[in-house]
Amino acid sequence: MSDLRGSRILGFGHFQPERVLTNDDLARMVETNDEWIRSRTGIRERHIAGPDDTVYTMGAAAARAAMDDAGVTNADLVVLASTTATDRSPNTAGRVVAELGLDGAAAIDVNTACSGFEYALGLAEQSVRLGTANTAVVIGSETLSAITDWTDRSTCVLTADGAGAVVVGSDPVARISPVVWGTVPGLTDAVRVDGDPQRFSQDGRQIMRWALKDAVGIARRILQTAGVTLDDIDVFAFHQANRRIIEPLVKALGVTDRQIVIHDIEVSGNTSAASVPLGLSKAWHRGELPRGGRALLFGFGGGFAYAGQVVELPE
Ligand SMILES: CC(C)(COP(=O)(O)OP(=O)(O)OC[C@H]1O[C@@H](n2cnc3c(N)ncnc32)[C@H](O)[C@@H]1OP(=O)(O)O)[C@@H](O)C(=O)NCCC(=O)NCCS
Repeated sequence: MSDLRGSRILGFGHFQPERVLTNDDLARMVETNDEWIRSRTGIRERHIAGPDDTVYTMGAAAARAAMDDAGVTNADLVVLASTTATDRSPNTAGRVVAELGLDGAAAIDVNTACSGFEYALGLAEQSVRLGTANTAVVIGSETLSAITDWTDRSTCVLTADGAGAVVVGSDPVARISPVVWGTVPGLTDAVRVDGDPQRFSQDGRQIMRWALKDAVGIARRILQTAGVTLDDIDVFAFHQANRRIIEPLVKALGVTDRQIVIHDIEVSGNTSAASVPLGLSKAWHRGELPRGGRALLFGFGGGFAYAGQVVELPE
């Protein structure tokens, strides 16, 4: 039996499609306006996939950037989180393996919508810690534009496209905490992608109620499981669903001005499984995150699934 070891994040990468859709653009498509969208969601603009941007091409681009950042040229596990993958087989992680030329790497798709990246990181972290993988690439990638009803003003102002990724490697010490994950009874259908054609829909008020009442307890459980206190955290990366969810959560937890809160939703919209790694990677590459600092990751949404962990940022 091999000894358990730790794991760590080695690098970050992301990809956003070129096309930017502003709130004013949306106001020309449905009955809405910039003021409503900003005040109800915090979103100013979002990126939308072009004809050549797919879940796997964007995921592969983010993965390549993360591998460059980490200084690694190979990986033996790819875990990809997405709720907008188009094909049942080969799975999208398998396509990324082929695209990146990662000869023989294991490939797993995870579909837990907005918490998908944290689930995927949990699986990758355990694999590296157990020694069933040495280097894992963990990706969140979404083309939510493909499942958006562009005539429905209550949802089309929220959704967006993009991808984020990290590389996980082994370490003598655990620098990624055990994942806290689960689902919320009674909310299974609160956020859905279903129908023919498949369309995103949600009970926005029900989610808002859950987020304002119960999400803080889960965030505290993530800290407790990691064996740290709120004060030990330098960066908070919550799922970028709505600024009106992030802000009360930050307040209820007691986050201080010294600590960084990711607010990528303003310029990226809600990219479901991609939102946390996308926001983190952008901030990391802008040099805004402290090297060796600690970040709390917390995703929640479709399913209704949630997951999170505390990670140490690379040195
Ligand atoms: C979706 C969400 C932004 C809607 O905000 P809200 O304040 O709850 O707004 P409501 O749905 O109550 O709508 C209020 C009014 O604005 C209108 N409205 C809805 N979308 C609009 C838009 N884009 N522009 C202008 N008006 C709009 C509604 O028709 C409604 O009008 P009415 O009062 O005349 O019926 C909000 O509920 C939310 O973000 N919830 C959480 C979503 C989430 O986190 N999902 C996770 C998925 S991953």
